[in-house]
Amino acid sequence: GMVQLTDSYDRKMDYLRISVTDRCNFRCQYCMPEDIQFQDKSHILTLEEMLTFAEACLALGVTKVRVTGGEPLVRRGVVWFVEQLKALGFDEVTMTTNGYLLKDNLEGLVEAGLDRINVSLDTLQPEKFQFITRRNHFEKVWEAIMAALQTPLSPVKINAVALRGVNDDEIVDMARLTQKYPLSVRFIELMPLNGDTDGSRFRKLFIPGSEILARAQDALGDLKPVAKDDPAAPADEFKFDGAPGNFGVITPVSEPFCARCSRLRLTADGKIHPCLLTDLDVPVKDAIRSKDPIPAIHEVLWKTARIKPAAGLTLPQETRNRTMSQIGG
Ligand code: GTP
Ligand code: 5AD
Ligand code: SF4
Repeated sequence: GMVQLTDSYDRKMDYLRISVTDRCNFRCQYCMPEDIQFQDKSHILTLEEMLTFAEACLALGVTKVRVTGGEPLVRRGVVWFVEQLKALGFDEVTMTTNGYLLKDNLEGLVEAGLDRINVSLDTLQPEKFQFITRRNHFEKVWEAIMAALQTPLSPVKINAVALRGVNDDEIVDMARLTQKYPLSVRFIELMPLNGDTDGSRFRKLFIPGSEILARAQDALGDLKPVAKDDPAAPADEFKFDGAPGNFGVITPVSEPFCARCSRLRLTADGKIHPCLLTDLDVPVKDAIRSKDPIPAIHEVLWKTARIKPAAGLTLPQETRNRTMSQIGG
């Protein structure tokens, strides 16, 4: 039968996340510093090169691709890129975006065959939005989410990073959205990245997923578990009685899902990350640019599979000195 890329712990690697750019039009505090230095464009793979990498992955049993960033929609040609990924034959092509450029790209993305979209939104309050993202764009993002619900991309998933003292007073408001709209609202536990080397910012801001679920249920009643479409999906999703949407949590810190991790990540500058939360990376740019790229990439992919670690964090208080924007979440 077909060859399936599998790691040394017998986990299938069938889900590729491609960070098409490390650039972003927001500056979310938990993600990057305001004065971040982006990579020089000369180091960034072309979209064609990324497609060659994706094609090599497809031949090893990768069936799903998620386009991430930075902010994927700031990269010129990204709608074309989605179309090309679908044409290669992936079952599922999805995108995670901050929503700022989404409304204008909705039609194109639908026509390109995008299967689903996840939008990052941490607050429903414009002033707080400006505090978290360092940009005053709440209205534009909200309008894009509402517009997306009118397209085949509905239902839409919302990612909110839970931040104690910042947006925990909105857990119930965010949960209520799922009673009104076909939105999957998922609070993500803050991950200790972004150069927070002593972990102090992380300890101050971290909220466990269990507390988020408890607070939502206290206010709005029982949450019933929703079965996962994909057993490897990181989100635990639930439903309030009669609600059109889902409410859930993603708990990479308190209940890591590493044992069912199916992911591999390509960065915009041509490195494969076998794990979001370890500093391992494997350069693949030379292989992509070689004369016979597919077998060369396959060799790098198998090497990556062999070093994919069993788990990302061995201690919950560990921190990582790099930004999320470079890896794409
Ligand atoms: P679904 O759409 O539910 O399948 O989620 P997804 O993981 O495919 O997409 P999304 O980009 O919305 O992921 C949500 C968040 O979960 C990511 O941005 C990360 O913060 C976190 N996450 C996803 N994958 C991993 C992973 O492999 N390890 C860790 N630690 N966190 C992850
Ligand atoms: N911890 C958890 N989630 C994060 N994201 C970015 N940085 C962090 C972090 N330190 C989320 C974004 C987006 C996704 C790609 O990753 O909010 O939804
Ligand atoms: Fe940009 Fe997303 Fe990072 Fe926010 S979390 S700065 S939107 S890449």
